[in-house]
Amino acid sequence: MANTILVGTQWGDEGKGKIIDVLTDEADVVVRTQGGNNAGHTVFVRGEKYILHLIPSGILRPGKLCVIGNGVVVNPLSLISEIETLEKLGVRIGRKLLISDAAHVALPFHPKLDEAREKAKGKKRIGTTKRGIGPAYADKASRVGIRMGDLVDAERFPELLRERMREARRILALYGLRPPPYRRTLDAYAEAAERLRPMVTNTVVRLHREIAKGKRFLFEGAQGTYLDIDHGTYPYVTSSNTTAGGACAGSGVPPAKIDSVVGVMKAYTTRVGEGPFPTESEEISQALHAMGREFGATTGRPRRCGWFDAVLVRQAVKINGVDRLAITNVDGLDAFDRIRVCVGYRLGNRRLDWVPSRAADLAACRPVYREFPGWKQDTSGARAWEELPAACRRYLESLAELVGARPAIVSVGPDREQTIRLD
Ligand code: IMP
Repeated sequence: MANTILVGTQWGDEGKGKIIDVLTDEADVVVRTQGGNNAGHTVFVRGEKYILHLIPSGILRPGKLCVIGNGVVVNPLSLISEIETLEKLGVRIGRKLLISDAAHVALPFHPKLDEAREKAKGKKRIGTTKRGIGPAYADKASRVGIRMGDLVDAERFPELLRERMREARRILALYGLRPPPYRRTLDAYAEAAERLRPMVTNTVVRLHREIAKGKRFLFEGAQGTYLDIDHGTYPYVTSSNTTAGGACAGSGVPPAKIDSVVGVMKAYTTRVGEGPFPTESEEISQALHAMGREFGATTGRPRRCGWFDAVLVRQAVKINGVDRLAITNVDGLDAFDRIRVCVGYRLGNRRLDWVPSRAADLAACRPVYREFPGWKQDTSGARAWEELPAACRRYLESLAELVGARPAIVSVGPDREQTIRLD
């Protein structure tokens, strides 16, 4: 494998965690480049379930260097609890994990502000994960944020925190709230800083050293294309660039060093949180929830489910430059008699084959469906393309043709072994 960016082509939860885990085998360095602990990457290894929020899933493999890049917002307390959970499960972190000194720190008032803003929006809420991701990135863009390099500077951090909390107090007062006490925050964060200090470094310099040594990189995208702050269904988006370009900005590795972009897509569509979703379907939601599938890895919320939307993914393939597809959750469709795929939208009396940028327009789009026969057979045991039922193969080939990229991986279950490689 050459240097690869892995992105979600829908609204997140495409099953990236598992695909990252599969591809990590062929990488030396795994890098997270955006988002924070709003992400939840689920990986099953020999029946054991791991949910990773901030740490690249490469940590589960021996000998991989894992990097939290400058584009990520880090909640140090949740990072430490993730490290501790992994250690309890017998995963050795040691010197395998590095954190960029330029990554921004999520502070305790960020989740409070996130929640207060959501509440104030009422019905117009975004449905965030309430991890404070939006407010943390807002501080970064407003140039008042605190970075990991500041956190581990025991001399400067207390004053920086005091200053930041002074303004936060005024902002939270608008919502009738107060930030957690300064002293308590300082103590907790100073303790976290002690633990994290050996991992915090200039990751740009380190990554370029690894490039010079010819190491192979995997950039682990979080969320999905339509949660991208620019290309997503704004304002129902997250606060970072979840698309392939974000991987370069969020790591300091230039576009010219990228060889391949893997786009992960579910064989149907899901979304958590609010916002337009043209192919949303009660039928498929109920059926998948009844099977115990499609509950959020970070918040446990039931995901909204719908048919595969080829318009959406086709545009994602273009925005990200996807050259290989990983199609996941194919087994989720095993029980359906017929399967629908959205091949175009109708907006008023116009027919669209692209995604409108205004959320209100997308919400008004009515899907144009093509119907496929179901295969009504268990696919979870298939380990080769030929072992998939013929109707399933035809369905997957049609999806690939409709979105304009080559299938490289098909996933028929959560376990590492339940994977079919076509490249
Ligand atoms: P935030 O990132 O917590 O601000 O949430 C903004 C939107 O992105 C909400 O609709 C969330 O449900 C969604 N979101 C954030 N992270 C993820 C994820 O990892 N998977 C799926 N949806 C996510």
